[in-house]
Amino acid sequence: MKSADQKSYQRLLVTSALPYANGPIHLGHLAGAYLPADVYVRYQRARKRDVIFICGTDEHGVPISIIAEKAGITPQQLVDRFWADHFDTFSRFGISFDNFSRTSAAIHHQTAKEFFKVIYDKNYLVERTIQQFYCTSCNRFLADRFVEGTCPHCKQAGARGDQCETCGSSLEQTELIDPYCKVCGRTPVLRETRHLFIKLNEFQQKLETWLKGKKHWKKNVLKYCRGWFKKGLGERAVTRDLSWGIPVPVEGYEDKVIYVWFEAPIGYISATKEWADKIGQPDRWQDYWCRDDTQLVHFIGKDNIVFHAVIWPAMLMGHGQFVLPAEIPANEFLNIHGEKLSTSRNYAVWLGEYLEQFPPDPLRYYLSVNAPETKDADFTWEEFQQRNNSELADILGNFVNRTLTFARKQYAGRVPPCHDLDALDESMLADLKQAPEKIGQLFEQFELRKAAYALIDVARTANKYFNDQEPWRSVRENPQKGQTTIHICIQVVKTLTVLMAPILPFSAEKVWKMLGLADDVHEQPWDGCGERPLSAGHELGLEEILFKKIEDKQVQPEIDRLRSILAEDKGQTMSSGENQKRKQAPGIVYDDFARVELRVARVVSAARVEKTDKLMQLKIDLGGEERQIVAGIAQHYQPDELIGRQIVVVANLQPAIVRGIESKGMLLAAEDADGKLALLTLDRPAADGAKIK
Ligand code: 2FM
Ligand code: ZN
Repeated sequence: MKSADQKSYQRLLVTSALPYANGPIHLGHLAGAYLPADVYVRYQRARKRDVIFICGTDEHGVPISIIAEKAGITPQQLVDRFWADHFDTFSRFGISFDNFSRTSAAIHHQTAKEFFKVIYDKNYLVERTIQQFYCTSCNRFLADRFVEGTCPHCKQAGARGDQCETCGSSLEQTELIDPYCKVCGRTPVLRETRHLFIKLNEFQQKLETWLKGKKHWKKNVLKYCRGWFKKGLGERAVTRDLSWGIPVPVEGYEDKVIYVWFEAPIGYISATKEWADKIGQPDRWQDYWCRDDTQLVHFIGKDNIVFHAVIWPAMLMGHGQFVLPAEIPANEFLNIHGEKLSTSRNYAVWLGEYLEQFPPDPLRYYLSVNAPETKDADFTWEEFQQRNNSELADILGNFVNRTLTFARKQYAGRVPPCHDLDALDESMLADLKQAPEKIGQLFEQFELRKAAYALIDVARTANKYFNDQEPWRSVRENPQKGQTTIHICIQVVKTLTVLMAPILPFSAEKVWKMLGLADDVHEQPWDGCGERPLSAGHELGLEEILFKKIEDKQVQPEIDRLRSILAEDKGQTMSSGENQKRKQAPGIVYDDFARVELRVARVVSAARVEKTDKLMQLKIDLGGEERQIVAGIAQHYQPDELIGRQIVVVANLQPAIVRGIESKGMLLAAEDADGKLALLTLDRPAADGAKIK
């Protein structure tokens, strides 16, 4: 087997990034690292290659500790819940992992510790004493995201100890202005602590040489790596002062854990070991990890590039006994209706909710044909509906249906014989013969979009062939021609079924049954599948609708829900009816809450907005910063009764223009069932601008 780098490989080990077990799976996950990998693996299995597909949940790290703490449960309880949730969602979408493991498993702890120990023993780790924030109230060091504050670069509040999400700067926690403990809100103190650092600089040259052999990799991956090399690889801490994680297996470090990004990729190895145990061949994992004729393919989203293409290969080089990644197909992000997906704002499509309404295949198809391969892609419900209706239903489904219906009506549900071929028959068969190779090449090169287009193109050509041959006419005027046409059309259906199986596995199973075939469509060999007709006389099964059309009323509530979130973000008010319609997120995490900057503001002036009933224009003081906001409270308050009062505002809302007036923030009020508003105020005075936690 030759891969894109023209090297010969004997077997394939395919992985998808280990998802964090701290929230449900959404569309962005599926489009980035899971669906493209699943399609690729299903294709490789059909090529009869030796391939395994490995994944599992990433269960350590600070956000998991914080979320569990806030929810009053243990981290283990939290990750147990989301491991089961992810496993269920992926299964229902047909993501066909050979093993879906987890990093809290004993086998992972052991494998990660052994790996760490090898790196330590080979002197790639060095001890450094650093200053780190310590919360005297929570009695712990504040690793990574446990500490937040104001970004020294963009001055935005809520920057994390490792990175500011607003301006993207990567930060040292000691750079934060006004740091506070993410759990209790108190100001931490600086204390000395010791950590082990990996000397990445010692790997830079080797990594650069290795990457020179990967010219065919996606530009986004190479660009990130070059950027890192240009800055120069330094030392990176690989231990943390936390209680949730894998204890560091080095004397004197027993009370610390291994940094989650160091141990998570080792999860690919431990999940393979677990797979080997499960199939009763405990040494089999070594075939995939310890032989250099294995092609290791990591499917990831672009936010994981540096870890997979620089740090993880350095770790593997340091360890020395495992293969390096051969391919890292990193996908870009998937936006939704033109906006960045945001779990905290519930601006997302949750897969569990999707499945309550629609089958998996239409989404698998849409995310294939619209995969974020080389640039961010956009998901819209309208396009999802349109592609389902006009491509899956009208082209692919229609061809299958018209062929099988015709055969049932005219040939008693049996495959008619094939007679002399005319030029149109020859051309259809030639296209069919080439299709597996053509689509296969695209899968091989991670060109999922083009492969999905090419698949529908085969059905499009077949519909044209059906129309041009006019079997409804020849069945009366030239029966042999009619039989030949339908014989060939059934051959096309059979081929299409094998070709569609990687992208549309559930639909392929249905069509296989409609063809009266009892074996497993997923076991059918890809090679030569365009040249294996069903024999004349074979009895077909019963046809059924393959792809149901999606109606406006099915997608409209989803579109409304997303729009209402955007409208709300932009400071526009929603009617309470719209508010009711908006679905609840499946629970928010503390992080979500912490993103909202609530502050005390004093009303400096207030005036009704002319020609409106509801709007009031307010000037507010946020402790030295004066701002203007527009609020829908004019039917509930007189301007005079507001001046001088302290209210509560969302201070980090994006500015919006309301009736031509700029509004920078939103005041908070409670709304009765009858629409009466009551402003949120304080029960005793606080400093103007004070943060609300
Ligand atoms: O970004 C993420 O979701 C990480 N949990 C991915 C980890 S991939 C691998 F290294 F395990
Ligand atoms: Zn604290």
